[in-house]
Amino acid sequence: MPRPLIDTDIPDSLYADLQLDPKIQPAAPIADHWQNPESLFLTGATGFLGAYLVQGLMARTQATIYYLSRQKTIQEANERLVQQLHSYQVWQEEYRPRLVPVLGDLAQPRLGLDERSFVELAAKVQLIVHNGSWVNNLHDYARLKPTNVGGTHELLRLAALQRTKPIHFLSSMAIFFSAAHPLTTPIRDDDLPQYSQTLRGGYTLSKWVADRLMLFAQDRGFPVVIYRPVRVGGHSRTGVSKVGQDGSFDLLNTLIQGSVELGLFPDLDVEIPLVPVDYVSGAVVQLASQQNAWGHAFHLVNPHPMPWAELYSLLCDCGYSLEKIPYREWLCRVKQQAASLPPRNSLAVLQLMLATPNNLQVQRPPFVTETVQRFLAGSTVACPPLDRALMGTYLRYFQQVGYLPPPPQFQDK
Ligand SMILES: NC(=O)c1ccc[n+]([C@@H]2O[C@H](COP(=O)([O-])OP(=O)(O)OC[C@H]3O[C@@H](n4cnc5c(N)ncnc54)[C@H](OP(=O)(O)O)[C@@H]3O)[C@@H](O)[C@H]2O)c1
Repeated sequence: MPRPLIDTDIPDSLYADLQLDPKIQPAAPIADHWQNPESLFLTGATGFLGAYLVQGLMARTQATIYYLSRQKTIQEANERLVQQLHSYQVWQEEYRPRLVPVLGDLAQPRLGLDERSFVELAAKVQLIVHNGSWVNNLHDYARLKPTNVGGTHELLRLAALQRTKPIHFLSSMAIFFSAAHPLTTPIRDDDLPQYSQTLRGGYTLSKWVADRLMLFAQDRGFPVVIYRPVRVGGHSRTGVSKVGQDGSFDLLNTLIQGSVELGLFPDLDVEIPLVPVDYVSGAVVQLASQQNAWGHAFHLVNPHPMPWAELYSLLCDCGYSLEKIPYREWLCRVKQQAASLPPRNSLAVLQLMLATPNNLQVQRPPFVTETVQRFLAGSTVACPPLDRALMGTYLRYFQQVGYLPPPPQFQDK
């Protein structure tokens, strides 16, 4: 039963973006061997989550991974991927022969490929993992649309061409953080993310539109699986996190760093529902081989979030000298200190991130994660609680790479 398009007060300007090309139909037979593909197509391989998807797909399949790259030459594409995988501590030389760059761009028709190359790619790959996105809270919807919405459209076109290919799409839980979903109503995996003018920022709106296109594709009979993570945090064993390896930063990590630098910690009444990156990649890789996952959306949320006050107490127990102060006062101090330092200092980055639509202080409805837990039961993939041990692993990684200074008592006198 197709889902209704006009579920709420969708503005006229969004209608065109919500039209899935009628030519995109799952008419062709399903690609052979999709459960253990010989070839698959991955977008966003050079990103944080993408690195762990490469690692997981390498381990679980024998597939050649065709990955979309914005670099100009094959050599530059290879170099960038290797460098990124190194920086996230997952590179293995034996991966090399199984990684084939496809030079293109999510924001272009046919992903920037000529017609023939697009058809050849469609004929070659048996599975698609669409993880690439312009993850940016600074820009508005119009700027992000070609990549995040247009790219999703083109991936569905690729999935339909030649043979119908299962497609796994990385959406975001943030599309539920709006007035359309009251705080008192638990969100289930099969709930439809409703449009609301209170969706926070252009990035979230672009993910909402892309998610809706994927839902329409499910309604047309495409084997689509949607994953909606909340904040994706570091690796649960190594602690490797997004700490500016590629000039991109994570708000929570930047806030921890800035607070330690200032000696001040903001008092907030929120929980941190972060999921480790290896849980997200593990879930995608596991569910990519399960036919019963087709047509579902899975919510990747930590069932055991960390209360904000616990993070403060852990940082203090680690030896950092921090005073807890009201958020507004803390924000003023961030701004003052940022202004007194040379440009582009870490507190200025933090100030900028806090000024954009972010989900740090968002009160979230409760999430019911029983569907994903049921689908992952019997596998080794489970979300570890965000407890002191896991957060401690992240803090140790921050210290190892110099993102956080050692606590004062451990510093050289
Ligand atoms: N991180 C989170 O907390 C979080 C939470 C919920 C959902 N998600 C979703 O999870 C996915 C991965 O997030 P992430 O944090 O790993 O992102 P990320 O580190 O910012 O990586 C983004 C990836 O997308 C690629 N990309 C961006 N624009 C492109 C374009 N025009 N053409 C081709 N490739 C392009 C980038 O390639 P380049 O190497 O060319 O830059 C990079 O590989 C995204 O879909 C995101 O929306 C993330």
